[in-house]
Amino acid sequence: MDKIEAVQSEALQAIQEAGSLEALQAVRNTYLSKKGSIQALMTQMKSLPKEEKPAFGQKVNVCKQEVTQALEKRQAELAKLAIVARMEEEKIDITLPGDRLKIGTTHPLMMIQQEIEDLFLGMGYKIAEGPEVEQDYYNFELANIPKDHPARDMQDTFYIDPNTLLRTHTTAMQMRELEKAKGQTPIKLICPGKVYRRDDDDATHSHQFMQTEGLVVGEHITLADLKGTLEFMANKVFGEGRKIRFRPSYFPFTEPSVEVDVSCPFCNGKGCSVCKGSGWIEILGAGMVHPHVLEMNGFDSEKCSGFAFGVGIERVAMLKYGIDDIRNFYTNDIRFLETFDHFD
Ligand code: PHE
Repeated sequence: MDKIEAVQSEALQAIQEAGSLEALQAVRNTYLSKKGSIQALMTQMKSLPKEEKPAFGQKVNVCKQEVTQALEKRQAELAKLAIVARMEEEKIDITLPGDRLKIGTTHPLMMIQQEIEDLFLGMGYKIAEGPEVEQDYYNFELANIPKDHPARDMQDTFYIDPNTLLRTHTTAMQMRELEKAKGQTPIKLICPGKVYRRDDDDATHSHQFMQTEGLVVGEHITLADLKGTLEFMANKVFGEGRKIRFRPSYFPFTEPSVEVDVSCPFCNGKGCSVCKGSGWIEILGAGMVHPHVLEMNGFDSEKCSGFAFGVGIERVAMLKYGIDDIRNFYTNDIRFLETFDHFD
């Protein structure tokens, strides 16, 4: 009889101490399974004298009942605790601040290109884009730079085969557009895009850079129209009050050809370190479309004329944002790119 009590109190204590449903199951196995301690008591009953059996059997049954009840009670408790623990674990603190999404910014070269595109679209120009892998014919021949012409040396070139190359200027695209127009005027377009030259990269040179070229062909187009257009562009890009000046130059596809300077936006033309004391900064090449280029493309150069210009986007961006190394544009260091956040 003492043994029954001992087993019972031992079982009840183990039930109270079971800290999880798994531990409780182990307790159930120890005491209530077929090989458990309570069943073992029943087996022992067989060896008792007959008259002791009923009382013993009854006590074991009571013990079994009490242990079963205590087990069920503890099971309910532990199940409840498990839910509470899980809810605690999965709690979401909706008052925590959210993760801020990092949004990229427009690349500084894209900013300049888009600015130039916008201002020319506003003047009724259309945008023409074309292949970067170009035929010699459009890049050179139609632009009045035949094979063996010394002007080919002006633009070191990446050739793919003798007739295919990475375009050295977006003038190639202008030639495609002139050819496509089949002698019909007016033409008013800009050609933005990447160009390539076999150059050693340093702070001011890159084998790949961006240009935007403009082309206008029609009746009575003069150098004065070119000057007015470029002055308008300079004022939009570098701020109001800019003046421009032309200096004679040479391009095979324009005649006359000019280099265009803008009055220094940093010192207002007085002379500073950026303009090297001259008050002027060279920004682009331009000229009147060479009559031979017009003729080669099927235009009557007696009836129509045109102007063209080509501006380097990197150069404008470097001047405008005070960047002294062109390589910054291509290495895409996030710290560099982020400094343009506020311009966007
Ligand atoms: N294609 C010339 C260059 O790449 C620029 C240019 C364009 C000059 C149009 C005159 C007219 O250097």
